[in-house]
Amino acid sequence: MEKRRFINPSLIRKIRNESDQRAYEWTFPAKHINTTGKNLDDYKRVLPKFGGRNFVEHIEAKIASGSSNVRVLDLGCGQGVCSAMLMRDFPQVKSSGMSARDFRPLLPENLSELIKRVDYRIGGAHRLNEVFAGERFDFITALYSFEYFADPLAVLKKAYRMLKPEGIMFINNLHIPLKLKEKPLLEELWKKQGINVYIDWPYPEHIAERDSVNISIMRDNSPRLPLPFKYNPRVNYVESFGHKIPRLSYRLTLP
Ligand SMILES: C[S@@+](CC[C@H](N)C(=O)[O-])C[C@H]1O[C@@H](n2cnc3c(N)ncnc32)[C@H](O)[C@@H]1O
Repeated sequence: MEKRRFINPSLIRKIRNESDQRAYEWTFPAKHINTTGKNLDDYKRVLPKFGGRNFVEHIEAKIASGSSNVRVLDLGCGQGVCSAMLMRDFPQVKSSGMSARDFRPLLPENLSELIKRVDYRIGGAHRLNEVFAGERFDFITALYSFEYFADPLAVLKKAYRMLKPEGIMFINNLHIPLKLKEKPLLEELWKKQGINVYIDWPYPEHIAERDSVNISIMRDNSPRLPLPFKYNPRVNYVESFGHKIPRLSYRLTLP
């Protein structure tokens, strides 16, 4: 019989902390920090849709329904460009950003006044709930940041709990092991709990080789996001811009 191996919880904690620490120590050329951020069309292009509408259209609909205080959190916000532009274009939005390291000094001169209005916080993604303790958001976005987190599903779970009821999160490049045929099963599993999820692949031509998905989730009946995944007793190291990033690997455990 195959001997079962488990990852020790203290090792999981150590890997998460190490990931936050490495991200804090990053030094990057400015051009690599905000890959998006020329205008809000980037949000529309990069983030997945929810229910046929893109992120910006959801903001517009929220404001049209009478909300005058729409809270948005950008997880792994880089220089905070997107948050700043959101506040520029929608005065009803209060934009918060979180980054392991403060990249605001790399901002282009013309945006430096705008960024002062953004609620920019420095902290590790795996401690998201401590950085924003007790705060709730209408929308949470993450662009090109989940791929750097050692334990992306743990962060996803925390982010879900920070959504207001009917709040929506839009995430690109979430690394989970998921095959095309498993997608409807996973969506169905969440639907049964009253949680609406859309999953698609950012690079459909590479489905066989990539485990990276785009995902949008609305917080509905369930206050928690059930995750049918188990840790694998393995840590993968991935290279990004010369940085070595640890990532815990998962196994899907659909019934
Ligand atoms: C490549 S930048 C993406 C910036 C921006 N979202 C964009 O689309 O251009 C990655 C961002 O994720 C943040 N990040 C990476 N790992 C992190 C961690 N463990 N905790 C908090 N932030 C992290 C970095 O500090 C940086 O702000």
